[in-house]
Amino acid sequence: MHNAIRFMTLACLSAPLFLAAQTSNVTLPQDKGPNKIDISSYPAEQQKSYKMFTDKCSKCHTIARPINTTMTKDEWARYVKRMMHKPNSGISDSQGKAIYEFLAYDQESRKDKNPSVFSKSLSDEEIEKLKAQQQ
Ligand code: HEC
Repeated sequence: MHNAIRFMTLACLSAPLFLAAQTSNVTLPQDKGPNKIDISSYPAEQQKSYKMFTDKCSKCHTIARPINTTMTKDEWARYVKRMMHKPNSGISDSQGKAIYEFLAYDQESRKDKNPSVFSKSLSDEEIEKLKAQQQ
């Protein structure tokens, strides 16, 4: 009896965490921006990686989210790894590398020229606050 209650409590507590780790259930300011990049002037390799980026990075949240977020290249490197390590991300090491290189190129050639129109990434605390407001 005691064990059954313990099990149920654990299952109830961990289910929302499990879901939260997979799909983003919050709307961030970046989600509301444009959901495309004009890549017509990008090098062929980056044009190819753009497809992989839009395919892989739209699984759990809008593709607008990364398109409208500005960060340093080091932060992108860390962020892509963080996204790859989420359960069921479906992103391999070589795909992650190609996506990172695309994001680094896009950061330099598009976002760094006009940083004020993009959103800085939010801290975990800021995201938790938005989640609480949107429930
Ligand atoms: C397995 C699901 C999943 C995949 C795949 C995924 N993300 Fe995310 N992403 C999340 C979650 C979860 C959050 C955190 C916000 C939240 O808790 O809803 C997030 C947040 C972000 C943010 C917000 C940063 C901030 O703090 O403001 C960016 C940018 C981002 N992801 C970029 C990417 C990129 C680039 C890719 C592709 C390499 C990607 N994501 C793939 C789940 C995912």
